[in-house]
Amino acid sequence: MVGRIVIRGGLVITASDEIHADVLIEDGRIAALAASGTPAAEAWTAERTMDATGKYVIPGGVDAHTHMELPFGGTFASDTFETGTRAAAWGGTTTIIDFAVQSVGHSLREGLDAWMAKADAQCAIDYGFHMIVSDVNQETLKEMDLLVEEGVTSFKQFMAYPGVFYSDDGQILRAMQRSAENGGLIMMHAENGIAIDVLVEQALARGETDPRYHGEVRKALLEAEATHRAIKLAQVAGAPLYVVHVSAMEAVAELARARDEGLNVFGETCPQYLFLSTDNLAEPDFEGSKYVCSTPLRPKEHQAKLWQGLRTNDLQVVSTDHCPFCFVGQKELGRGDFSKIPNGLPGVENRMDLLHQAVVDGHISRRRWIEIACATPARMFGLYPKKGTIAPGADADVVIYDPHAEQVMSAETHHMNVDYSAYEGKRTTGRVETVLSRGEPVITEREFTGRAGHGVYTPRSTCQYLT
Ligand code: URP
Ligand code: ZN
Ligand code: ZN
Ligand code: ZN
Repeated sequence: MVGRIVIRGGLVITASDEIHADVLIEDGRIAALAASGTPAAEAWTAERTMDATGKYVIPGGVDAHTHMELPFGGTFASDTFETGTRAAAWGGTTTIIDFAVQSVGHSLREGLDAWMAKADAQCAIDYGFHMIVSDVNQETLKEMDLLVEEGVTSFKQFMAYPGVFYSDDGQILRAMQRSAENGGLIMMHAENGIAIDVLVEQALARGETDPRYHGEVRKALLEAEATHRAIKLAQVAGAPLYVVHVSAMEAVAELARARDEGLNVFGETCPQYLFLSTDNLAEPDFEGSKYVCSTPLRPKEHQAKLWQGLRTNDLQVVSTDHCPFCFVGQKELGRGDFSKIPNGLPGVENRMDLLHQAVVDGHISRRRWIEIACATPARMFGLYPKKGTIAPGADADVVIYDPHAEQVMSAETHHMNVDYSAYEGKRTTGRVETVLSRGEPVITEREFTGRAGHGVYTPRSTCQYLT
């Protein structure tokens, strides 16, 4: 354990401020900030001094949506908690919230215990869990109360994937009513899975088997319809709602309308929807399979509406939905039948850099970058101000970020356990230099200096973002 660390000379950026300040770290926490060059800052002594001149000093990223080792379509997401959290650290993310899964016929507790065991002593950075609720019944509803008390304060339900994770409207309403009472936050996968399954069957019967048909059957209108329905069910239940992986502009419009009515309705989008499109899904030679995820990638015109939603706060969070499957042997399971391609994209390592590129490109401000990638996910899921900011008392989860370094994203150089990059060849400006997790250097000037097991399970309070 490094004792006192001082980071000198950087531009400290949080969701609310940009200040030239030195940062004092003591016992794994932020002890103080003081304007660089002032007597107060100069007086600090420390075991270790880090020079951040010309660099940004930002809170570690909080990725509120990952799926390490998720079982899906007869295979498992290819990143383990060890490889996935190491890659996250490389990309400047210091907290993930992954999804424990309740299987049908089993309890929430069994699912949570299983995911706790998978992550235990494996993670390079801190982690928490949401709970995927696949089987709403009286026992499950009671268990939700217990989980909220224990720090698992958010529950994902699916309007998609009938026969797997799917909940019907009655099950959704019951879970929402429960969360209205116990303070939990329902996270919704909003796609009309019943209608989509009909369209899948019809497409395959016509011989439309290529990856691009995955995007065609999972229609934007069916995302919008489900988003609207989820909002109305939440309104009836008097519960807040967080819609995950929003990709359709029509769904953003539904969220915006609900928010204009004053409802506690929130939306998350992901880098793949901001930077990739149906053009990628249409790549020949089955390459399109690399871009199969749900909700699907959309035509390019949706991107502008997603950026707009991020600027107007109709979308509040950018998470990755990191759920990698290798091209060889995993995505290939769907050759000849797009519905058998495991759903999900890698990205946990790329998010902070891609969103910095969005700053460079003029889509968002620097402070908004930190807000959507660090502060709001921490607030939304009850981790603030321990995570998501640089302030006295916060965990010293800190990234020294070089805003001028150029890089090219590639599977050759990334650290995720997957044989392709969704952003292969993409040039970005900005790069993570050094990453501290509770004061421990896990990346030091672009060397991995962390270890599996440094990261600890982090229980969460209820949502801190309600109006
Ligand atoms: O395609 C995706 N998003 N895979 C992960 C599971 C989910 O629905 O989030
Ligand atoms: Zn999910
Ligand atoms: Zn989902
Ligand atoms: Zn997901």
